[in-house]
Amino acid sequence: MRNDALYVGLMSGTSADGIDAALVSIENESGSEFELVAFETTAYPNDLKQEILSSCDARTGTVDLIARLDAVLGQWFANAALSVIASADIDIKTVRAIGSHGQTVHHLPDAGEWFGVPARSTLQIGNASVIAEQTGIQTVSDFRSRDVAVGGQGAPLVPLIDYLVFADPEKHRALLNVGGIANVTVLPVGGGLDSVTAFDTGPGNVIIDGLVHRMTDGAEGFDQDGRIALGARIHEEVLRKWLSHPYFELQPPRSTGREVFGGAYVDALIERHADVPLPDLIATATAFTAEAVAESLRAYTPDFDRLDELHVSGGGSLNPFLMSQLQERLGQIQVGSTDDLGLSAEAKEAVAFAILAHRTLNGLPGNVPSATGASHPVVLGQITPAP
Ligand SMILES: Nc1ncnc2c1ncn2[C@@H]1O[C@H](COP(=O)(O)OP(=O)(O)OP(=O)(O)O)[C@@H](O)[C@H]1O
Ligand SMILES: [Mg+2]
Repeated sequence: MRNDALYVGLMSGTSADGIDAALVSIENESGSEFELVAFETTAYPNDLKQEILSSCDARTGTVDLIARLDAVLGQWFANAALSVIASADIDIKTVRAIGSHGQTVHHLPDAGEWFGVPARSTLQIGNASVIAEQTGIQTVSDFRSRDVAVGGQGAPLVPLIDYLVFADPEKHRALLNVGGIANVTVLPVGGGLDSVTAFDTGPGNVIIDGLVHRMTDGAEGFDQDGRIALGARIHEEVLRKWLSHPYFELQPPRSTGREVFGGAYVDALIERHADVPLPDLIATATAFTAEAVAESLRAYTPDFDRLDELHVSGGGSLNPFLMSQLQERLGQIQVGSTDDLGLSAEAKEAVAFAILAHRTLNGLPGNVPSATGASHPVVLGQITPAP
């Protein structure tokens, strides 16, 4: 029997470009069958984006800023949810829940012991009480902490959805999301959930965005359609140096964020390569993202040679220069977008958090231990009831 339920999935990623809101009708208990009913992105005004980026940077992220943003983003998330609901011809009372990823301000999955106990932690803000009060809808939030509490990285969390939706009986598939950070899920033919390999490959758009911001004195936040990179030159020897960063030595499970590849990293690159024109650094950073994907797939994917196709989602899939670099560096593997599989590349992450909320309310686990390193599957998130 079909048991359709409506959810809103909200995603605000490491790029801090805006809020992705997906209205999803989920048709079965596991969440593998669904329909995307509506999707909207609410872009952050530039000054709010800069405050969010400041909150993520250990040099500028004060407790005052983080506490204020927690409330303000809760309200912005609520408005994004209300807006995507209003765009569809549905009764708001039929929405079962909102799944809100939140805005990551700090991600420390590898912090060691402190005061005799583990200090491992991940922090997403955007207050769920505010979301539930402003929308009147119960809200599931803080998905990553539960996985961290059982020894996992808390990331990536989309692999379960990749597995449920995209595992194929004939094709060896990989799914790549290129947001601020890039993460990949590899789904071997005929494999069960424990055959899934997934990890953060490294930077996605985060370095490109930081360099464009510097080059344009803040007028632009990203390399629209890869135009700057297209007219510039890749410095392969510089790219090789960047690949010697210790992150690329880490075996999966591994995850990363702005703590490693954010503002401080970009500032250091610009200083270190003062002799390289900024457009060339942007082209090199774009190729670096692609090469980190190719190298880590080669190094950490069992049966890499059998991989048939890579389907890209996230804002990076809209950058033709990045897409062509991926194809060039992955040779025989066919590179396309998740649009080809019937799921909007821009909506995918927001859809995933709608499905994860559904699973939480159904008492089903949302993490993939082989991907995050958690000791066991856990039901993710905190549930904030409707008023
Ligand atoms: N037309 C485009 N051309 C080039 N790059 C684009 C284009 N559109 C979006 N992008 C890039 O995608 C980024 C936003 O991607 P997205 O929203 O998927 O990432 P995110 O918010 O960081 O999410 P997450 O980290 O969770 O995946 C922008 O910052 C920009 O770098
Ligand atoms: Mg985004």
